[in-house]
Amino acid sequence: MKVIGADSVDSVDPQTASGIEELRRWRRALSGDSILGLVPTMGALHEGHRALLRQARQQCDQVVLTIFVNPTQFSPDEDLETYPRTLEQDLQIARQEGVDLVWVGDREELYPAGFQTRIDLPQMAQQLCGISRPHFFAGVCLIVLKLFQIVQPQRAFFGEKDYQQLKIIQRMTLDLDIPIEVRGCPLVREKDGLALSSRNRYLEDESRRQALTLSAALFRARELWSEGVVQSAELKQQSLERLDPAVDLEYFEVIDHEQLTPLEMVDRGRGAVICMAAIVGGVRLIDNIILEP
Ligand code: PAF
Repeated sequence: MKVIGADSVDSVDPQTASGIEELRRWRRALSGDSILGLVPTMGALHEGHRALLRQARQQCDQVVLTIFVNPTQFSPDEDLETYPRTLEQDLQIARQEGVDLVWVGDREELYPAGFQTRIDLPQMAQQLCGISRPHFFAGVCLIVLKLFQIVQPQRAFFGEKDYQQLKIIQRMTLDLDIPIEVRGCPLVREKDGLALSSRNRYLEDESRRQALTLSAALFRARELWSEGVVQSAELKQQSLERLDPAVDLEYFEVIDHEQLTPLEMVDRGRGAVICMAAIVGGVRLIDNIILEP
């Protein structure tokens, strides 16, 4: 069984395969007992993606990175065409992180003329980000399900930064009896606290400063929680005092970490998650923090 350690990753040159059939051929050639890990992305890789790749590298024998800016998760007024595309840099990162195969998806191949199938989503998708982006999770689940079918990994890795996305994908995998273990990886922040996102590059200096108050509000919530505050209304009200007035808050919800249902009070033995979304300088950002039991 081939396992590539973190110290030898520089010597690995990832292959790039385009085309579903080519990827399937590569997959069939793997030995039966090797654990294949999938890291699905839309490219524009940053440190958060590196963390996913590293986790996959450590926990799997073979690692596939997919890059595809998925149109079905964007509404017509969103940034599908301008979403950052940085393939050269992405390949360099893949090489450095010891990825075995990079697969760049093709829009016409993944969604050919006549494509009709849609996924109906659970209650979990109708709240938080699902309110302002009703198309989003259906599009994410559709492409993730397609990638699961194409790549057929034993494990797939998603960031906890997109907490709701992770939980919905775990739910879908369970509900549809898909034999893939969906693993979450901790959110990665800049040194100053900003949660890493491919869209951070859109932030101008002033908006970046304002964006920092999102994590400041979440850190305040965690502090209050550790001081014994358990009422969601109080956590929310005091934390949001840290938010810059220029930030356009979409939601700040204290929720159950599995069901994603809003909580009036956090059980000290169970903990919770706080998820938030806001628009800063025209850029929509999400962030979250876990209140550990
Ligand atoms: O989190 C993302 O980058 C995307 O939503 C995903 C999971 C790759 C699906 O396009």
